[in-house]
Amino acid sequence: MKRIREVALRAAKKAGQILKKGLEGEVTVSYKGDLNLVTNIDHRSEEAIVALVNKQFPGHQVLAEEGHDRTEPSPFRWIIDPLDGTTNYSHRFPFFCVSIAVEIRGKVQLGIVLDPLRNELFFAEKGKGAFLNEKPISVSSVTRLSKSLLVTGFAYDVRTDPINNFNHFINFSMKAQGVRRTGSAALDLSYVASGRLDGFWELKLQPWDTAAGSLILTEAGGKLSDFSGKSYSIYDSELLASNGKIHREMIDVLQKVG
Ligand code: IPD
Ligand code: CA
Ligand code: CA
Repeated sequence: MKRIREVALRAAKKAGQILKKGLEGEVTVSYKGDLNLVTNIDHRSEEAIVALVNKQFPGHQVLAEEGHDRTEPSPFRWIIDPLDGTTNYSHRFPFFCVSIAVEIRGKVQLGIVLDPLRNELFFAEKGKGAFLNEKPISVSSVTRLSKSLLVTGFAYDVRTDPINNFNHFINFSMKAQGVRRTGSAALDLSYVASGRLDGFWELKLQPWDTAAGSLILTEAGGKLSDFSGKSYSIYDSELLASNGKIHREMIDVLQKVG
């Protein structure tokens, strides 16, 4: 695990430099869908991470958002979002990160979320706690939804699919102290883990959005489930993450129809 940790940290830092430096030059955008963007920097970051992983661990699987996958059988799978927050990045709105996780035999064992602009590195290894720049972190102690600051996001098919999260957004806005939409799910999870936010929900996220952040959250004492309280997998479409104390109240809101 030591070598995996070292390579994952090296890859995250390298990618973080690429994201930071990339803002100084031209950011070119192409479209994967109407709202779903990808930039030259997403590709550059992914190529750097995957090159390092492939060199150090040629037998490992890779699942990376921009398609540098390796699918040969292996108990090890690297799950990579080279730039989480691409829409923010393409507008130079300073809220984005790189997310790298390592799954071993189907369970996420290591997660790194790095915000290169704030120099904040969120890190967790299964069973060993969660850290922000090497200091232990834990979820908030807020016990009531009415006192909580929540965060969510909207999938790229928000204009065309009636399952668009608007109903939940309205319902939570009526119940919580505030609801934010930051544009980076990996940082949203890391912020709940570090007590800056109290709860997060979103639909239709992908494993690369959530793999690292979900381990960081649970290692910080947080709780994950689907919208009905059943256990969550990074391959599921509904994610509810909280400090644990407001989880039941959040499920009650998510179960309201309309
Ligand atoms: C997106 C961000 C955003 C979330 C979207 C994701 P990307 O990832 O995490 O917060 O609302 O659903 O797709 O495309 O910036 O890597
Ligand atoms: Ca993402
Ligand atoms: Ca991405």
